[in-house]
Amino acid sequence: MNQRPAGILATSQSPRDVRPQDYDRAAPISERLKYLINYAVLAPSTHNTQPWLFRVNGDSVDILADRSRALPVIDPEDRGLLISCGAASGTLSTALEAVGLIHNLSFLPDPSEPDLVARIAVVGEIALETDWMGTLNAIRSRKTVRNGFQDRLLRPSDMQFIEERTVSGEASVRLIDSVQDEVDVLRAIGDAETERLTDKHYVRENASWTHPLRNRSRDGIPELANRTASIQEIWSPGNLLENKMGSISRVAVVVSPSNRPLNWLRSGFEMSIILIEAGKRGLNAAIIIHPLQIQEIRLRIEAILKTDWTAQVLLRLGFAERAPLTPRRALVDVMLHPGFSR
Ligand SMILES: Cc1cc2nc3c(=O)[nH]c(=O)nc-3n(C[C@H](O)[C@H](O)[C@H](O)COP(=O)(O)O)c2cc1C
Repeated sequence: MNQRPAGILATSQSPRDVRPQDYDRAAPISERLKYLINYAVLAPSTHNTQPWLFRVNGDSVDILADRSRALPVIDPEDRGLLISCGAASGTLSTALEAVGLIHNLSFLPDPSEPDLVARIAVVGEIALETDWMGTLNAIRSRKTVRNGFQDRLLRPSDMQFIEERTVSGEASVRLIDSVQDEVDVLRAIGDAETERLTDKHYVRENASWTHPLRNRSRDGIPELANRTASIQEIWSPGNLLENKMGSISRVAVVVSPSNRPLNWLRSGFEMSIILIEAGKRGLNAAIIIHPLQIQEIRLRIEAILKTDWTAQVLLRLGFAERAPLTPRRALVDVMLHPGFSR
């Protein structure tokens, strides 16, 4: 007999099957949190490693970093891993807000448990947001741009939401204004990629998460999703220079006042909010962080931005060409039981 409350997904189902209309307001909070974790895991993560675990305890959820999914060559300090966990936290928080679950979010709440990266505690409930389904659907349809941008011009108003976002003290997203600055950032990314491709350890680790056999797994990047455009093409300044009518994409940079784990979590959080807001407007983004691992490239980009904050993530936003979605692990693979720690 099925013991689950109506509308709650089985923990073995693909989170990609989650549907807003299945949200059951009558279910206990802990069940609803499990349902909403299906949205959290649709967050972007470096190489789709999905380096997170969740622990639901009554009315609260712990998000833990799963360091067994680290990328030691590409991401030696786990910066990308924590940005990914920050993105999962931001996505979960946005989903909770959409369904009217008032909550407190604290990053790194317990110094004795460094892998406990965030705790979200539900403290009350109000009405569903008017466009709650739109928000949940934007989380579902968000995808990293891999096959390039449509030849569709952006209007200045398409990007206003980035400028209007009030920033937290730990991270913010800056839109690059001038075409010349954008070209300079894109050239820096291209230079970093050229340098990285000469590092066989980097190439090998990269390949191990984009291997053709990944088509059968629930993590990593299936070859299909990565086939048509290389990183150099996606991040090429060509589109900017050729299209005299305006821009089909805009570059934004997530920056933070210092360069510590809390800033990485916050950067991922802010990035996820921007990506979901972009999704509501039909926009998607290419995401890249590894050029910023190269100090010379990072300093070049910070100089272009005229900032003394640290550049954490590079985004290129526009209307994406169609591309297959990447897979996700089922909840059964990412849920810990209360009292069970690793
Ligand atoms: C911290 C971080 C770093 C990423 N770096 C890259 C990258 O270098 N190149 C790339 O194509 N995508 C990058 N991505 C996007 C991921 O590959 C993507 O989120 C993941 O494969 C899941 O696919 P989806 O975003 O389409 O759901 C990055 C994402 C995050 C969160």
